[in-house]
Amino acid sequence: MDNSLEMNDLPNEVKNLDSIELLKLPTQKSLSILKKFNNLNDFFNINTNFKNEYLKLIKNRIEDAFVKKYNNANYEIHSILYQLYNLQISDPLSEEAINQHQPFFYEIRNLIEEHWLNSLHLDYVLMVKDSDKSISELIMELCEREKISEHTLFSFLATEANERQLFAFFKSDYELNIRFFDVLIFTLLNSPNITRMEMIKNLWDESGRGNYKETHVNMFEDLVNNFNVTNKNNIVPHDSWQKLAGYNLFMLASLNRKNYYTLLGIMAATEAIDPQSYIKVQEACKRNNMTEWLYRYYSEHSELDIEHAKGWLNYVIEPIAKESDIKNDILFGTFSRLKTCKDYYDSLYQYLQSIK
Ligand SMILES: [Fe+2]
Ligand SMILES: [Fe+2]
Repeated sequence: MDNSLEMNDLPNEVKNLDSIELLKLPTQKSLSILKKFNNLNDFFNINTNFKNEYLKLIKNRIEDAFVKKYNNANYEIHSILYQLYNLQISDPLSEEAINQHQPFFYEIRNLIEEHWLNSLHLDYVLMVKDSDKSISELIMELCEREKISEHTLFSFLATEANERQLFAFFKSDYELNIRFFDVLIFTLLNSPNITRMEMIKNLWDESGRGNYKETHVNMFEDLVNNFNVTNKNNIVPHDSWQKLAGYNLFMLASLNRKNYYTLLGIMAATEAIDPQSYIKVQEACKRNNMTEWLYRYYSEHSELDIEHAKGWLNYVIEPIAKESDIKNDILFGTFSRLKTCKDYYDSLYQYLQSIK
């Protein structure tokens, strides 16, 4: 059996790699190479053992991540998921776009998602008891119990963080804040009719209510592009598995129809917890002499998201929960968002301590 790759159509950096060498790389690195092959099926046909060997490696890493809780395995696994999710929204002109529906990639994704969801469910089952309370009450109870806005990260930002640390915080938050518009679109797809008005209202707010300069994406771009910080390009980016997991949770629930109600629970939790935390971010901005225009993303959300949270609860989640028995999926979404968000803030706080 010829184990070498066909040299045509391969990215330059991998022309000297064969399938054996690909298997020696960390699994997330080999995936970043594989997803750019434009003759991936040929590669699998030539290297008949590759898929099995690669899956074996991934299964080991899954166990290391979700059973043994090793940080480096969690990083590897979440980095794979992150790449596979972004493949679904890739730049149409990118090399990876042609592999969007590669069955082997779906096999990997399903495997990881199954184990990740199982491990989240284990914690969730231990935590939530049956209750007669309304779904809104249960969601708010969960959010209040977790007290995310009282996380050390936010008191540190409000009272101590210097401008480099503040900038590093914005950069770390960047990707999910920019992706939020797309996540909202996923909530809209084939949504129950009664909920659409509220979702469209959210999307309209997200789009600057018709003023393209004030879309939330532009607000955040303005913040990172115009905040003048000495040597801001030298700041090492935040790159932890907790950061990837925070992003991945939104994508998992957006890209899988069976997790649609989980997505609604994630959205409600996000809108409910952000305003209180964002007030502390605003304090940090004022203390670092930033102009109000620069940090308007946070001032806008600390007010608007109070309305959005009520909207998700009263006009989306409650009406749906009256029609179908989906309370548990929604609450699981809220729980998972709070958990991954807290993990992310723990890791972000640690990371900010390393920025001087
Ligand atoms: Fe927004
Ligand atoms: Fe919002």
